[in-house]
Amino acid sequence: MDHFSPNLLAEIRDKFAFVEECPFVGERIFFENAGGALTLKSVVETSSKFAAIPDNQGRENAASKALMEIIQKAKSDAAELFGATVGQFFVGESGTELLFRLVRNAATSAKMGGNIVGSSFEHPATRSAAKYWAFQTNREYINVQHNNQNGHVTAELYSEIVSPDTRVVTILHASPVTGISVDLEAISKAVHSISPEAFIIVDGVQYAAHGGITIDQYNIDGYAISPYKMYSRHGYGFAWVSDRLTKMSHEQLLDGPSENWELGTRDTGSYATLSDVVKYLEWLGEKVEITNNRAKKLNNAAKAIAAQETSLTDLMINGEDNIKGLKDLDGIEIIGGEKNQNRKGLVSFRIIGISSHVIVEFLNNKGIRTHVRKADHYSGNILNPLGWEDCVRVSVCHYNSSEEIKSLLLALYEFQLDALTN
Ligand SMILES: Cc1ncc(COP(=O)(O)O)c(C=O)c1O
Repeated sequence: MDHFSPNLLAEIRDKFAFVEECPFVGERIFFENAGGALTLKSVVETSSKFAAIPDNQGRENAASKALMEIIQKAKSDAAELFGATVGQFFVGESGTELLFRLVRNAATSAKMGGNIVGSSFEHPATRSAAKYWAFQTNREYINVQHNNQNGHVTAELYSEIVSPDTRVVTILHASPVTGISVDLEAISKAVHSISPEAFIIVDGVQYAAHGGITIDQYNIDGYAISPYKMYSRHGYGFAWVSDRLTKMSHEQLLDGPSENWELGTRDTGSYATLSDVVKYLEWLGEKVEITNNRAKKLNNAAKAIAAQETSLTDLMINGEDNIKGLKDLDGIEIIGGEKNQNRKGLVSFRIIGISSHVIVEFLNNKGIRTHVRKADHYSGNILNPLGWEDCVRVSVCHYNSSEEIKSLLLALYEFQLDALTN
């Protein structure tokens, strides 16, 4: 059953573009949210509006001033959404580029020597950056091996590896392959209890759409997201950086303002679309509870998103009434197990003896879009230790419905019947 009432879910779905239809193939159910979430209609409108404005920032005219105000507003909206009363936000080319930039600046400004620590749990964005900059700065890169069984990494595992001379640590908030999130606050605390000066850079790209980021609580130095995975659009990444890292010598224009992280002219439209995302979440929060407290609205939206997504993934795994869940399919294996309280809107599985490509193609032909993750440079870190060649990834967002999940389960049941009879 959906957490949202049918009316509210319909209202939510109406806020997004291409919910039930792909512009290329027509009707489809969208379970590829970890590849890119649906886009808010307001974001589409805002993007087109700003794409047509020729003015630049920093000029003595009304248009320029308006653009600067819009950027400032987006930054303060983001501060409220991500629970950050300190530090600053800035845009970059993509989540990957921003994570590279944060890791690079942390590695080059930290005290010489020591080591850099990251985990096999991470996406290649942070792993590549940390390994590359460990090598460039003559430091050892040390891996924290994640736990295969529950599909994530813990503070205890970091504590076994971090040493007093660890200079930079990378952490993935939630995995786009396992769907499992980590206790970021606990890991950060564990790291700083051993190496108080270590810079901590966090990849929040997969986590962001699933609700509730509270940067003030984490005691970290960088946090990056990809707005196209959080109801905005492609074309930019968004990051928060701590005042501590800003005070270190970081890349910037010569003689420019020392606290600046933006390199070059900013796309006002990208900032404005972030305000659209915050406005949408405020609207959703108001549907849960009427209040004038903005932080409360955003918090209520995050809780409601989590509740809807948990009801969807529980239904996917367990089924309902006479509809079998994933766990009842013959030969099924689910990464992170059937019950995992850290699951964030994503289930990856395989059916032993059957290529995941065949399953994804079958579902595609039924109008259900999922994705194959292969043991390549993106997902090999998770699949190789399990001994898996591939898996099927079904990634949901709060705007998905239980009806859509049931269609997936019925299609998979049909797939198994076909496999048995052929
Ligand atoms: C966890 C994670 N980190 C980083 C990235 C890369 O983000 P971008 O495509 O914005 O570079 C992705 C994209 O799939 C991701 O899932």
